[in-house]
Amino acid sequence: MKLLRTSVALALALCKLSYGLDNGIGRTPAMGWNPYNAFSCANTESLIHTQAQKLVDLGLDKVGYKYMSVDCGWQATQRDSAGGITWNPTRFPSGMAGLGNFIHGLGLKYAMYSVGGFFSCDDVGGTAHWLGSLNHEDTDANIFAQWGVDYLKYDNCYSVSETDFVDFNPPFELKTHFTKMRDSLAATKRPILFAACEWGLQDPARTWPGGSVANSWRMSNDIGPPPSWANLMRIINQVVPITGFAGPGGFNDLDMLYVGHNELTAAEQQTHFSFWAAAKSPLFIGVDLTQGNLDSALSILKNERVIAINQDPLGKSINFKRRYTNDNDVWAGPLADGSTVVLVINLQASSRSVTFNLADVGFSSANAQDIITGNSLGRLSNSLTTTLQGHGSLFLKLTSTTAAPAPQFTFYPASSGALSGGAATRTVNSTTIVGFVGNGGKLTLSNIDGGISGGTKLLAIDYINADFTMTNTACSNCREALFSVNGGTGVRVQMPISGQSWDILFQNFLVSLPGFKAGKTNTIEISNPSAFAPDFSRIGVAS
Ligand SMILES: *[C@@H]1O[C@H](CO)[C@@H](O)[C@H](O)[C@H]1NC(C)=O
Repeated sequence: MKLLRTSVALALALCKLSYGLDNGIGRTPAMGWNPYNAFSCANTESLIHTQAQKLVDLGLDKVGYKYMSVDCGWQATQRDSAGGITWNPTRFPSGMAGLGNFIHGLGLKYAMYSVGGFFSCDDVGGTAHWLGSLNHEDTDANIFAQWGVDYLKYDNCYSVSETDFVDFNPPFELKTHFTKMRDSLAATKRPILFAACEWGLQDPARTWPGGSVANSWRMSNDIGPPPSWANLMRIINQVVPITGFAGPGGFNDLDMLYVGHNELTAAEQQTHFSFWAAAKSPLFIGVDLTQGNLDSALSILKNERVIAINQDPLGKSINFKRRYTNDNDVWAGPLADGSTVVLVINLQASSRSVTFNLADVGFSSANAQDIITGNSLGRLSNSLTTTLQGHGSLFLKLTSTTAAPAPQFTFYPASSGALSGGAATRTVNSTTIVGFVGNGGKLTLSNIDGGISGGTKLLAIDYINADFTMTNTACSNCREALFSVNGGTGVRVQMPISGQSWDILFQNFLVSLPGFKAGKTNTIEISNPSAFAPDFSRIGVAS
């Protein structure tokens, strides 16, 4: 049943050529400020006033940050006598319509927060019992419209029951909660951008038909706290299989920004911002704008070339192109003017030389601009070698590109290999998949053609990995496999999730392996001594 539903949803999604909720707004990702990453739910009127004024004083509104948010913490614990949602008068003495007037008076837009649950999210472990909107959607949507709300972030605490604060495995489709609030907002006739936040639990990008339930959807668990590189990589790995499932009106939300939080280095903050911008995530600043020395954060947040990538009318995300495990990641995607944006990320914590191969994004040559500095890098031919800071990145716009010849592969089904130590087959869409590789299980392919000269070969691997996680592990939202050619030292390869169910393939994961001999006598052994590898469908070897 689950499988059938997934296929139907996918078929519908494929019929519709574009993604997103067609409510006339949110055609590009929303930009603004949100208190949560700096203040958690400690939300007050004076705090919002101060931060809103700062947003304007710092000129952030002028470059696009328009949505001023309240997050959790504004609500009362009892509905008013008419059954309406209402506020904590100690924290918000002028009321929520008053807050809207203040925000609009600054020329900003008003971003409200509620929850598709019995109570709200809170920062005291689920004991605050602030009001949620579940089963009060029409009433609350009308109240939000009366308050002048322009945006609603809709969260997911207490969505299952009055006693279950955060449930990562709800026994029903959360989509129903979000669809209800979408329709209640639409019925108010006020344009209210709808930002869904079910933490990526049920793969909204893929399973909400055509992204039609919301203008954006969180695709992962919270980005923190704490701000950390591991948290960024957990989200980057999780977005790999869904970058194609988004577009104008419906975007993957990678969560609010930690730019300005100095637990991350300046280079990490820049990579974070560039990635989020190019993945077409909403960009919500999450730093206390009154803190001293914001210069470095502001130079990242106000870069108009990076913002232009985010706000590009085509609305297409960068896609995962290649991972050089423990070395660098290559991502690329299209812009409305026909150019290509490329992000190369140094996966190591130290500053070093990294080479970007244009072939990894399909080109042999191109004119390049450094998006961060705006400098032209002239015409690139085949590759560019440059120094990247630890976890820093190269962010390029390529134009006048020349296509590289596409590599040709000879494919070997995984099921044609020898299985040992617990490795086992299963069938998906009438394809035989080899699973339980790793933890003793091994898959060995023989009689592999090394061509006329052998040596190092490019492989294209089709695999399934639905080991998605809400927490940080050694390889969050990825699995590792060791590939050994002809008994040589295993090359460790990190493979991101291919989806959130065990039937979705990742196709053409590229990796170069040394040690091939000429002729058809090569073996490739796939294993992992200490964890499970992905499941494998087929292995292509470049001819
Ligand atoms: C099975 O079909 C679905 C729908 O076309 C596709 O997304 C998935 O990748 C396929 N899986 C395999 C293993 O072929």
